[in-house]
Amino acid sequence: MDKILIEGGAPLRGTVHVSGAKNAALPVVAAALLAEGDHVVRNVPDLADVRTMGRLLAHAGCTFERVAGSPSAVAVRTPRTVNPEAPYDLVRTMRASVVVLGPLLARWGQARVSLPGGCAIGARPIDQHLKALAALGAELTLEHGYVLGRVPGGRLRGTTFTFDKETVTGTENVMMAATLAEGRTVLENCAREPEVVDLAAALVRMGARIEGVGTHQIRIDGVDALRPLDHDVIPDRIEAGTFLVAGALPGNDVTVSGALPAHMESLVEKLRATGATVTEVPGGLRVVGDGRPRPVDVRTAPFPGFATDMQAQMMVLLALADGSSVITETVFENRFMHVLELQRLGAEIAVDGKVAVVKGVPCLSGAPVMASDLRASAALVLAGLSAQGVTEVRRVYHLDRGYERIESKLQPLGARIRREVA
Ligand code: UD1
Repeated sequence: MDKILIEGGAPLRGTVHVSGAKNAALPVVAAALLAEGDHVVRNVPDLADVRTMGRLLAHAGCTFERVAGSPSAVAVRTPRTVNPEAPYDLVRTMRASVVVLGPLLARWGQARVSLPGGCAIGARPIDQHLKALAALGAELTLEHGYVLGRVPGGRLRGTTFTFDKETVTGTENVMMAATLAEGRTVLENCAREPEVVDLAAALVRMGARIEGVGTHQIRIDGVDALRPLDHDVIPDRIEAGTFLVAGALPGNDVTVSGALPAHMESLVEKLRATGATVTEVPGGLRVVGDGRPRPVDVRTAPFPGFATDMQAQMMVLLALADGSSVITETVFENRFMHVLELQRLGAEIAVDGKVAVVKGVPCLSGAPVMASDLRASAALVLAGLSAQGVTEVRRVYHLDRGYERIESKLQPLGARIRREVA
């Protein structure tokens, strides 16, 4: 298994460019199942999760390939009939695979999609996806670890449905399903994340009729058929945010090109509260980390609140603050696995349920650490960059699910970071 080796303490200076958003690319690419024909999606990051989505589409009978000469673009050809199945071997490596369920039911009237199973950051059920798809008329049963879905009459029917809980992929799954349903669907308590808005923009270009995205109520008027996709994915606000935190670490000055300020207001506000100087520059954001950060309290929440996917990275900055900060995780249970590893680097953090109290220390010291999930691994890289000595991050496959060549993006900034290929 690959390792990332970091010799900390080198100041980071310069510009880093953000890739397309993984969490937008995944549902957008899955939307190719909604229409027969040749689809093109640009600004798609080359990540393990995207390759998994490609394999899911290939399993269904689509072709999925990078466009020659334009490597950030992906071409998908959806045939007249597909195999409406998402097997366990693929779904178990990526929970977001479940976003194929809505399109399969909507377009093909049937689906057999494996349940995602356990996940390192809590139970993460998909009950809301299933409840909403059932409200649209799908008959769903659970058998041998699979969701079996059938649509009597072959076409979903518009409905009114209120999510019990805001869910990002749930909103996306059901919005995709409703685009081809008969009549109007009104979804309440929808997620408002930029990735939901981006997916809706892609669907509208396919001919879908959708209103209200970016608010809690989304209205969809079903159409008989959609055109193939032609879409540019938004920049990745979590990758951008990770580089912003890197820039806010003491002594650094990083410009994140491609960062969209409107997607990152909560993070920028917190970074400023720590004393970092964040300015909008043409095409991105620049952050200068001056002295030791000031402590701030952070509470994760659905968009536009502070993203749970930035919690671990922010914790690294606060671990170096001049005082104590309180971080409250409200979106997921068990999302503090990085704490034990950060403690190995000398951080002083106490966790009680959903709350972590981070008592800042003047410096961290390098050590071998183990990544437990995607964002936790990003936090360990950030910690390694600011620690004294060498940090070795193992289980890098978690990192590769969501960051495109993070080491080659950080090296030009002056980071002493390299990958040791197993
Ligand atoms: C998406 C993101 C993930 C991010 C998360 C929250 C993708 C591919 N992944 O994950 O990076 O951390 O949003 O911003 O976009 N829940 C239920 N029942 C459901 C669905 C969700 O109880 O049917 C709960 C979850 O357990 C969690 C909360 O709702 O506590 C939010 O989860 P959700 O928004 O669905 O996360 P994902 O869409 O899986």
